[in-house]
Amino acid sequence: MKKRVAIFISGSGSNMVRLVEDMADPDHPAEAVLVLANSADAGGLAKARALGVPTVSVDHRPFKGDRPAFEAALQTELDKVNPDILCLAGFMRVLTESFVAPWEGKMLNIHPSLLPKYKGLHTHARALEAGDAEHGCTVHMVTPLLDDGPILGQARVPVQDGDTPDTLAARVLPQEHRLYPACLRHFAAGDTSRIDL
Ligand code: GRF
Repeated sequence: MKKRVAIFISGSGSNMVRLVEDMADPDHPAEAVLVLANSADAGGLAKARALGVPTVSVDHRPFKGDRPAFEAALQTELDKVNPDILCLAGFMRVLTESFVAPWEGKMLNIHPSLLPKYKGLHTHARALEAGDAEHGCTVHMVTPLLDDGPILGQARVPVQDGDTPDTLAARVLPQEHRLYPACLRHFAAGDTSRIDL
């Protein structure tokens, strides 16, 4: 039986598209069963529909900061498709411990830095400010602590003279698109060996 995967997005969904395209391979151990966004305006929703994946949006704004109520609405949508694995792909809402705890060991995230460096936001600018020679991205298991769980894989890129946060982000994103599908394929097959690109 293929593992059922739900994917959470907030924006353009380029990582989501790579995950879904990779899962189109008949030999892939998983299948995409839902793409959920926290805004109906997320550009990735139309891309998911074009790839034949059911979509739904649960807008966080009407909940006015009531995280438990927002997360209950997320879980209600997940219960409808009963996924085995949850992938966060550019999902920009921080999930609370009460939502994460039941999903621990089954939820993955991609973060645009070489964790444990630069948890949180503005990772490219912070790597430049620190004068780092290399930067990259990380796929990790999600735990209640932000950007903190066990690492499944990392991809590294050189920081070049004259780099700006935008040029660095543009060098990291294609690596994200290679790393996340590779890590999900491994994870869904039960292979927890680390991937380094
Ligand atoms: C990616 O850089 C991801 O690492 C970060 O948000 C960006 C989203 O990209 N969390 P996309 O929505 O997958 O195109």
